[in-house]
This record gives sequence, structure tokens and C-alpha cells, in this order.
Amino acid sequence: MMKKGLSVIRSSLLLGIIALMGTALLAGVNALTHERIIEQEKMRVLQQLNEIVPVDSFNNDLLADRIEIQDEAFFRHPAPVTVYRARMDGKAVAIMMMLTAADGYNGDIRLLAGIDVHGTVLGVRVIAHKETPGLGDPIELERSDWILSFTEKSLNNPQLDGWNVKRDGGQFDQFTGATITPRAVVRATRRALQYFDANTQALFDTASIKAE
Ligand SMILES: Cc1cc2nc3c(=O)[nH]c(=O)nc-3n(C[C@H](O)[C@H](O)[C@H](O)COP(=O)(O)O)c2cc1C
Repeated sequence: MMKKGLSVIRSSLLLGIIALMGTALLAGVNALTHERIIEQEKMRVLQQLNEIVPVDSFNNDLLADRIEIQDEAFFRHPAPVTVYRARMDGKAVAIMMMLTAADGYNGDIRLLAGIDVHGTVLGVRVIAHKETPGLGDPIELERSDWILSFTEKSLNNPQLDGWNVKRDGGQFDQFTGATITPRAVVRATRRALQYFDANTQALFDTASIKAE
């Protein structure tokens, strides 16, 4: 009887240890995967930064010269917006704004929007999204040229009403059977321009450079 009791305790302990090891392993794998995703996103950002802002137009350390903006009410997303500032000999050249649109068909769409010092779009790129392949993914440059339609636009070109998809009376194409995804990207880009317009000086303020 005593032996049976001991064996039950031993089995329970063993099971407990196995469960603990499983949990620890899973947590480890999760942490590694998360780190890899962040690392991949960083690589993608770097690649896109170089595509959007010509490398000979600035001479500061773009990745280090950055600030983070937390303005959930304006950007309609709790994630901080990262702003990289390009300067030539200390003079403001452009910003690259990394922002998140929450209203994609499948949630967050991470975007990089390059805006020059005059408020003109240098380029927009999608860094990460979960939109449906074949429906929402033409926002990727690898799938279509649609994202290039923002280049050289500004808040006055087109006028504010034009900063919508055609279905909403604006200037930007939606996709066949998919309006939600392009609408989210157009609105996020418009928001980036509006933020830039209202905060140009503060966005380039060197006093707020993040310590590395
Ligand atoms: C399974 C499924 C996946 C969809 N994925 C997307 C998507 O990724 N992006 C999008 O804009 N619409 C997507 N849609 C379509 C939307 O539900 C919606 O009908 C559409 O965006 C509205 O565009 P329309 O007004 O041009 O029809 C999807 C629909 C279904 C059934």
C-alpha cells in the first residue's frame, strides 16, 4: 500500500517536472522566434530606408538619429511611432516614419513613410502585414506598383479629400474585391503627412535625439 502511494507521488512529480520543462522550452522557443521576427523587421527597415532616402542626400547616422512618438489618439494605435531623421551637415533633409495602421483586414500593417523636409512623400513601403494573399497583398512592392502611387504626393497634392481610395471619393486605387487594405494604408500615410505638417520643427529637434 505504502509502495503504491510512493509510486503515485513519484509519477506525479515526474509529470510535474516534464510539464515544467515543456513550458520552459516553449517559452524559450517563443522568445527566440520573437527576437528573430524583430531582427528580420530591423533588416527590412534598413533595406527600405536605403531605397527611399537616397544615400548621398544625408550624412548622419540615420538609425541612431531617431525619436519615438507616443500619440495613440492621433495615430489610432498604441504602438510608438519611430521617426528616423536624415540630415546633411546637420541640416534637416527628410524623416522616415515607421507607423502602424490598425485597420487592415487582418489587423496591423507596419509602414515606413519617407517625407522630405518640404512635406513631399519620398516613398512608402510596407514592412509587415497579415493581409490575405491575392486580395490585400498588392500593398507590397513585390506584388504590385500600387505603393509607388504615394511618391511625390503631399498634403496639397492631392487636396485632403483626395487622400482616400477611389471608392471613398479619393484618388488612390483600391484593389479588385479588396478595399479595406488599401484604405488603411492611404489613411495611415495621410496621417503621417498631417503629423509632419503640424510638428515639422519638433520632429527634427536635435535635443530629442535618443541616447544609444
Ligand atoms: C477570406 C477573405 C479574405 C479577405 N481578405 C481581404 C484583405 O486582405 N483585404 C481586403 O481589403 N479585403 C479582404 N476581403 C474582402 C473584404 O471582406 C471586403 O469585402 C472588401 O475589402 C471590400 O472591398 P470591395 O468594396 O471592393 O468589395 C476578404 C474577404 C474574405 C472573404
